[in-house]
Amino acid sequence: MGPGSDRKEREMATALITGANRGLGLEFVRQLSGARWKVFATCRHPGQADALRALAGDAGRDIEVHALDTGDPKAIGALSAAVGEQAIDMLICNAGVTKMRQARITGAPGERIQDVDDALWLEVLRTNAIGPLRVAAAFADRVAASERRLMAFLSSRMSLPGQNTSGGSYLYRSTKAALNAIVKNLSIELAPRGVTCVALHPGWVRTDMGGAGASVSPEESVSRVLKILLDPKLPKKAQFLDYLGESVPW
Ligand SMILES: NC(=O)c1ccc[n+]([C@@H]2O[C@H](COP(=O)([O-])OP(=O)(O)OC[C@H]3O[C@@H](n4cnc5c(N)ncnc54)[C@H](OP(=O)(O)O)[C@@H]3O)[C@@H](O)[C@H]2O)c1
Repeated sequence: MGPGSDRKEREMATALITGANRGLGLEFVRQLSGARWKVFATCRHPGQADALRALAGDAGRDIEVHALDTGDPKAIGALSAAVGEQAIDMLICNAGVTKMRQARITGAPGERIQDVDDALWLEVLRTNAIGPLRVAAAFADRVAASERRLMAFLSSRMSLPGQNTSGGSYLYRSTKAALNAIVKNLSIELAPRGVTCVALHPGWVRTDMGGAGASVSPEESVSRVLKILLDPKLPKKAQFLDYLGESVPW
């Protein structure tokens, strides 16, 4: 049985996903729409999102494609207006970016972390932390009005100081750590409204970000993550979970 397939069509469950044109985001769209969810699939450039548009064209799937750069507050406002009053069962803040993975203070000229300009730092912070918070704020009422009331945020084990054995990836680790703090805050603020907020590590996944040598396929990662999120026994408290369902201390 697929995610949410018990739900009758007239009460179709709804999801809103960021970064839905490739990688894990596209796979979330594929699996949820395949299970008869209505999906608001957002990406920076819908005109170039061939795989997503092809999926949206499949008969039997209910997918609305919308433009969203998560680093742009105006774009979040426009998306919020375009989606209208529709309740959102599950918000998946998936869009994320990593830059200058190799930069070290001891790096070669041009690869030193202290030389990374503020604009790049801010772009990564906007995408990985500020954007998800703004998207959550824009849709909090509509998630609270839904049946499932879930917000999921793609973080990473790399954000956890206790799991860091290799260093590097300063921008990614620190901005995903900021995301974790935001998820915990959101969960405290939204718990009285019955909204569950979860930070997720999807595994090391074979996407553009994870690379071809990664150990988990997008299909497996997403199907395991959805099983965890849609388990009626999912605790309401904020958690950091990996794709195997393990609760990770954060
Ligand atoms: N793959 C892994 O092993 C792994 C491990 C741990 C955590 N994660 C997390 O899982 C999430 C998905 O990763 P992935 O592997 O699918 O990465 P990916 O293949 O690199 O895809 C990243 C997605 O984020 C979108 N994106 C980036 N910046 C954006 C912005 N400002 N506004 C809107 N969309 C933006 C990209 O859109 P464009 O095509 O427009 O760039 C793309 O759709 C990320 O948050 C990542 O940090 C991945």
